[in-house]
Amino acid sequence: MTPRPIWIAQDGLTLQVIDQRRLPHERVVRDLNTVDEAVYAIKEMVVRGAPLIGVTAAWALAAAARRAPEAPLLEASAARLKAARPTAINLAWAVDRVLAAALACPSPEERALAARCEAEAITAAEVENCRRIGEQGVPLIEEIARANPGRPVNVLTHCNAGWLACVAYGTATAPIYTACERGLPVHVWVDETRPLNQGARLTAWELAAAGVPHTVIADNTGGHLMQQGRVDLVIVGTDRTTASGDVANKIGTYLKALAARDNGIPFYVALPSSSFDWSLRDGMGAVPIEERDPDEVRYITGWDGERSVRVRVCPEASPAANFAFDVTPARLVTGLITERGICRADPEGIRGMFGDKAMT
Ligand code: MRU
Repeated sequence: MTPRPIWIAQDGLTLQVIDQRRLPHERVVRDLNTVDEAVYAIKEMVVRGAPLIGVTAAWALAAAARRAPEAPLLEASAARLKAARPTAINLAWAVDRVLAAALACPSPEERALAARCEAEAITAAEVENCRRIGEQGVPLIEEIARANPGRPVNVLTHCNAGWLACVAYGTATAPIYTACERGLPVHVWVDETRPLNQGARLTAWELAAAGVPHTVIADNTGGHLMQQGRVDLVIVGTDRTTASGDVANKIGTYLKALAARDNGIPFYVALPSSSFDWSLRDGMGAVPIEERDPDEVRYITGWDGERSVRVRVCPEASPAANFAFDVTPARLVTGLITERGICRADPEGIRGMFGDKAMT
């Protein structure tokens, strides 16, 4: 089985997750027994990444349905889970699904069972969708490898859109893992992704564990590497993509898309259908952009060889701002790699692939 950041413990009930704040230096597992604990874990980024926070919330609501299946209590829990982080659409999507499944049943026992079945179905679908994203995206890497024999395909990625952010395989990393399984030579440029360094801490850890050649770079390096012809392809994930193809993702994604366009480098976004917001057309101004604690910018945490240490990087009196996401306009996106195939990032392209779901 591929590695996972979330699972149900042997008692069959307790939700357990890897505490991603502690990676790569320590592997700490946390139990999430209550909605409060799940809300804390999502807010504080014990768990993070759009598909994973959806799956975590789904299981937390299923546990709540087991303990207190009354509709008003479930609705209140659902509202709290949905409010934990604003940008990733997967969170509300998963919570709404579990809530609807539970409330459709008359008896408490049936509610608890329906909620658990729905959480299981969401989890299984996210795993399968990420596996398929790998299959759908790998021809992009194959084609570049064929055209450039004798050297690796250089893929640049931003933040962590790997299995830690999903349940398995990842989104942006899935084609990379599939390419490696097929023996294609790949090298990944890993944006460090300040302020919380999901690239340097998490993507680098994942790739190292899987034996994928990679190099961590400071966030501002990508443009230079593109100008030097050292990036063949950019693949990133997304927290919310609109019905017209605007892509909200980790802050800094937009700048990479601009640099890729200026250098004629393909810029792809990998996503399961749970990351589409079918209710939004224009992402600019409409996608809620999370603003987090400025201290995440003012301070940095690292490993001194023995323990984790947190140090301030700016003058004590300097204020900071911490915008966690940005929106890359669809016109800068070469294509969307989804579980159903690769489509253009525009209303027609998306409707052509997801006509059954997309708004008309
Ligand atoms: O703030 P985070 O770490 O939750 O942000 C995660 C990202 O921006 C990922 O790129 C995104 O969720 C895609 S997950 C496959």
